Amino acid sequence: MRLHALFLQGALSLAAAATTSSSKIPSPDANGKYWLNTTRLSLAFIPYGASITNLILADKHGKPLDIVAGYDNATAYTLDTAHPHFGSVPGRYANRIRNSSFTLFADDDSEEETITYHVTPNENPTPSHPQGVDTLHGGPDGWDYRNFSVVAYTNSSITFSIVDPDGKEGFPGEVISYITYTVSGSTWDIKMVAIATTKKTPIMLSSHTYWNLDGFELEDALGHELWMPFAGMRVAVDGILIPTGDLQNNERGGVNDFWSRPKQIGESFEKREKGLEGNCGTNCTGYDNCYLNTLRSSPSSSSSDWRQPSQMIARLSSPHSGIKLEVYSDQDAFQMYSCNQQKGDVPLKWTQGTDERRTIPKYGCMVLEVQDWIDGINHPEWGRTKKQVFAPGGDPYVLQARYVFGVVDE
Ligand SMILES: *[C@@H]1O[C@H](CO)[C@@H](O)[C@H](O)[C@H]1NC(C)=O
Ligand SMILES: *[C@@H]1O[C@H](CO)[C@@H](O)[C@H](O)[C@H]1NC(C)=O
Ligand SMILES: *[C@@H]1O[C@H](CO)[C@@H](O)[C@H](O)[C@H]1NC(C)=O
Ligand SMILES: *[C@@H]1O[C@H](CO)[C@@H](O)[C@H](O)[C@H]1NC(C)=O
Ligand SMILES: *[C@@H]1O[C@H](CO)[C@@H](O)[C@H](O)[C@H]1NC(C)=O
Ligand SMILES: *[C@@H]1O[C@H](CO)[C@@H](O)[C@H](O)[C@H]1NC(C)=O
Repeated sequence: MRLHALFLQGALSLAAAATTSSSKIPSPDANGKYWLNTTRLSLAFIPYGASITNLILADKHGKPLDIVAGYDNATAYTLDTAHPHFGSVPGRYANRIRNSSFTLFADDDSEEETITYHVTPNENPTPSHPQGVDTLHGGPDGWDYRNFSVVAYTNSSITFSIVDPDGKEGFPGEVISYITYTVSGSTWDIKMVAIATTKKTPIMLSSHTYWNLDGFELEDALGHELWMPFAGMRVAVDGILIPTGDLQNNERGGVNDFWSRPKQIGESFEKREKGLEGNCGTNCTGYDNCYLNTLRSSPSSSSSDWRQPSQMIARLSSPHSGIKLEVYSDQDAFQMYSCNQQKGDVPLKWTQGTDERRTIPKYGCMVLEVQDWIDGINHPEWGRTKKQVFAPGGDPYVLQARYVFGVVDE
């Protein structure tokens, strides 16, 4: 693997050099978007956060729906101060870092000397910590606040790259990353690769797409049905969603049971189940939880078979549009967020209707984030180091995911 990583590093440097010289990358459209179309899907991407901005397909009546949240043009992403991380790649370390700090072994072989790093906080400000007490999605200028470079663009794929400098947002060492999106038929494939070039550093990426499989035609997304057959456990968190170190069982029939059967997101809301209050932090009703992909953690699963139908980690569907989304991934965890913080102040896109209902309502969408166990760098007892800490010459960070779209005809 070491050799492989070295070759990869060479290839990445060459590619990085190529992007600075003159290249013949086709231009985006007037809105700054790069489209990838198949006979069934139209997807658009922008360099800002290597984000997906549109995903259009026909519903069960043949009507085209744009089923992701976003903005009409690339500039709008840079203007919105709320910054919901729409469709982006959070990095270099997705989700929350407790106390904005972590400790790494200086040398893995001796495990004697450690180095503690402090990264820039950007969430949960208090009078004594005006910037915040933790770091969310890589800090106030994380990857999804930056324009990636487009290094390749064909009619079926686009590759973005970013060079994240040593010390940026407090993280050690330079990281070079390539994000490739590929489309074919009804499938969207994601491959993310990142390497630490100068120092040992944590890396955890994700894809932060906001889904509404009805193209926001209804008042909320609570009628969507979710099935996560391997999500028997979740990471326990405190009132500000920082992992406590405990892992919890998702009790059969409970609020977080999406594994024993497909379940409507709104089912526990309708039943006013007590456990839903505070389930996504203090005073928060809904979901913002990291479910463990217990299938992938089991010793019998090999890394190559994650695309098998039997290994589907999630299926989201809506009876209204008939659209369903199946998620496959090589990642060991899965964050699900039910848009609890949306409050009707983010406009929909022109592709999502021009009537008066032009904002994203509370519970109006779902974010499904394939990733590793959140804040694993602060929980060495979980044994996530190999998946989250990378050093020059070692294995690269790799994330793969496949989204398969379909229409259920009822
Ligand atoms: C791709 O599809 C979008 C949306 O339907 C359309 O606006 C765009 O022109 C198409 N691009 C190409 C290259 O076909
Ligand atoms: C990033 O791209 C957007 C959209 O094209 C542009 O408005 C913005 O100025 C760019 N930001 C930087 C820092 O280059
Ligand atoms: C991009 O979108 C923003 C926000 O909706 C709008 O103010 C701006 O005029 C748009 N720019 C272009 C070039 O369409
Ligand atoms: C949080 O980090 C600060 C330094 O930034 C340190 O002084 C403090 O002990 C840490 N607190 C915890 C609970 O780890
Ligand atoms: C994509 O590009 C290839 C090679 O340039 C071409 O043969 C093919 O017809 C194109 N496909 C579409 C759907 O445009
Ligand atoms: C939670 O809500 C209660 C009642 O409205 C309020 O008193 C309390 O300050 C809130 N706590 C937090 C952490 O927001």
